[in-house]
Amino acid sequence: MAKDINWGELPFGYYKTDYNVRCYYRDGKWGELEISSSEYIPVHMAATTLHYGQEAFEGLKAYRGKDGKVRLFRWEENAKRLRNSAHGILMKEVPDELFYNAIVKAVKLNAEYIPPYGTGATLYIRPLLIGSGPQVGVKPANEYLFMVFVTPVGPYFKTGFKPVDVELVRDVDRAAPLGTGHIKVGGNYAAGLRATERAHQRGFASVLFLDAREKKYIDEAGPANFFGIKNNTYITPKSTSILPSITNMSLEQIAKDLGLTVERRKVPVEELETFEETGACGTAAIITPIRKIVDNDMGKEYFYGDEAGEVSTKLYHNLRGIQEGTIEDKHNWTTVIEGI
Ligand code: PLP
Ligand code: COI
Repeated sequence: MAKDINWGELPFGYYKTDYNVRCYYRDGKWGELEISSSEYIPVHMAATTLHYGQEAFEGLKAYRGKDGKVRLFRWEENAKRLRNSAHGILMKEVPDELFYNAIVKAVKLNAEYIPPYGTGATLYIRPLLIGSGPQVGVKPANEYLFMVFVTPVGPYFKTGFKPVDVELVRDVDRAAPLGTGHIKVGGNYAAGLRATERAHQRGFASVLFLDAREKKYIDEAGPANFFGIKNNTYITPKSTSILPSITNMSLEQIAKDLGLTVERRKVPVEELETFEETGACGTAAIITPIRKIVDNDMGKEYFYGDEAGEVSTKLYHNLRGIQEGTIEDKHNWTTVIEGI
């Protein structure tokens, strides 16, 4: 039975649930999964996560389908990306089996918080990996904590599937070309916070970052990848400093399935002028259509429309349909969690 929560009004934020799961890497091996009802973790004051940024996280969702089943979407890709993130900043990798067992346990223990089908809300799953062991010299920790909490969420951008305004940023880099932009580590988000908050204060829903080296090409849209549509083609940036979005990867396939051409390549800023539709995509953002992109420094504005475009709408419904079990999952992307 789902809790009595006003699901339709949920923001994308933290909502307390009953349990989380934790697992420690100590003495060269991963231990047993532990269940906790505390929202706090004891952390050593010299833990590397606090000083040297040994931290990575993931984000995926559990979807209650029209048929009542609960599905995960491409969790193996999140497990793989967390391994890549761990590898990138010298943390111990979480084995896929541990990753899966932890997310399923966290979802099952909090099954009452899975939003019902049709409410627009979903259960967001947040796996987190931190260096928990102490170091004072700049070195990787000897101990790690992997944990998973879940929280019911509404749409990331308040408008839901309604076009939002985006501010193009030229004075801040989120990630360096050979830095950590391609993995999901906390430092990337810290680097972008100032620009993001400034954009919010100016009334924009999100920022659009450019490539750090030349400032010529589109990188990504805050916590989401960017795509543009023109001439029946789905175009998305190729860059070493953007997070490889699982949603974007899936949309590329869905676009192909729908008969669109797909191009992953450098996208010059000037090309913004030529797109019929643009959007941001990600687990949290799903597909968020873009109404306009404002490039203040260049005195330019690119306008795409007050309503979502036809192609974005089709992509959105196909993606959500697969996630919620109303459209055939022909690429085998979903995993049903039995017994809830
Ligand atoms: N880009 C950034 C910086 C993100 O934080 C996210 C969210 O995870 C994405 C893109 C979208 O990735 P995904 O579709 O795997 O959620
Ligand atoms: C996601 O889309 O899952 C994200 O992690 C985005 C953001 C909340 C960091």
